Amino acid sequence: MEATLRAILDTAVWAPSGDNSQPWSFTLHGNNIRVHLDPHRDNPILNFKLSGTYIAHGALIENIILAASLSGVRAEAHILPDLADPYCTAEIICTESGVDADPLAAFIRERHTNRKSYKKQPLGTEVTAAFSAAAETIKGTKLFLTEDKKAIRAVAAASAVMEQVALETPALREIFVGDILWTDEENRSGKQGLAIKTMELPLPARLIMRHLHNHFVARITDMIGFANMARLANTGLYASAPLMGLITIAEESPSAYIAAGRAIERVWLDAASHGLAFHPVTGILFLARSLERGSAEGLLPKHFEQIRRANATIRKQFGVEASDTPAMLFRTGYASPATARSYRRAPDIQTI
Ligand SMILES: Cc1cc2nc3c(=O)[nH]c(=O)nc-3n(C[C@H](O)[C@H](O)[C@H](O)COP(=O)(O)O)c2cc1C
Repeated sequence: MEATLRAILDTAVWAPSGDNSQPWSFTLHGNNIRVHLDPHRDNPILNFKLSGTYIAHGALIENIILAASLSGVRAEAHILPDLADPYCTAEIICTESGVDADPLAAFIRERHTNRKSYKKQPLGTEVTAAFSAAAETIKGTKLFLTEDKKAIRAVAAASAVMEQVALETPALREIFVGDILWTDEENRSGKQGLAIKTMELPLPARLIMRHLHNHFVARITDMIGFANMARLANTGLYASAPLMGLITIAEESPSAYIAAGRAIERVWLDAASHGLAFHPVTGILFLARSLERGSAEGLLPKHFEQIRRANATIRKQFGVEASDTPAMLFRTGYASPATARSYRRAPDIQTI
């Protein structure tokens, strides 16, 4: 069984995580897998109360269950099983039962982020119904979808505020630029960070990003309004999608964020099964949560109102109830293939 569990984890770690941080490790005991969270891998400014890390774990846990089904293994997940250890996100009890392979499991390694411009081609009701069915199985989450052009434009403009804030805020700019993997070798090593080719930047933006740590270049970009240009360019890019979606949760807790991660992974795998490109555009939600909860550390007061308005626009366009919290925002549609994909480090597994 140990070899099977290791094979399941080899597949499952192809889950998405913010900045490809892969904030996880595992212990095997008998037929059980314990999933552990590393609280230091995701950056605190973009990871309010570890919410991004818990979302990534949700996607990972869903992948473990699905990947197990490929080997005829039934995987029963107990979420946050140990009150004394909030960093143990799941205990997964595996039994060889001849369970049927879940059709979504075939797309775990196929799923990836595509940050290109998308084609206007509508997706059709069969696809939107499949997304809803995929998310519905995860309790405590709601999926909102919109194909309305005006709503998409408004949400695109709101989410692109993130790029402006990130480029104008020294602490965020450092993370943004510092985490770029500039070579294929770095990407293939499975290191945390975004591989430059996966960012799909036009050449001038790529050159500026390459030299943005230089104070002189940073000053010139401020003078020419590069951050504002990036916001406008990304508004157009995000608005190219024929469909945008939002996953909300009813309460802000680690288990609710894990549920959001499970739901987004199922929708994303379903999108992959339909040959669709997919791109989370969630940064603005994380900034808004930090601000709402009074921990605006690292952010500049000049952006507070802009972040609040962007968050309010997203809530309004999707009709989110006041008591619910937006957890993951995404765009999807048909597109040409991503220029590159990100890699993973081998899973860190201890046997006890
Ligand atoms: C919680 C979370 C938030 C994310 N937010 C963004 C985002 O705002 N923008 C973006 O381009 N990608 C975002 N991503 C995608 C990750 O960067 C991506 O999953 C990771 O780099 C691995 O690449 P892959 O999805 O192609 O396997 C997010 C992923 C997760 C799990």
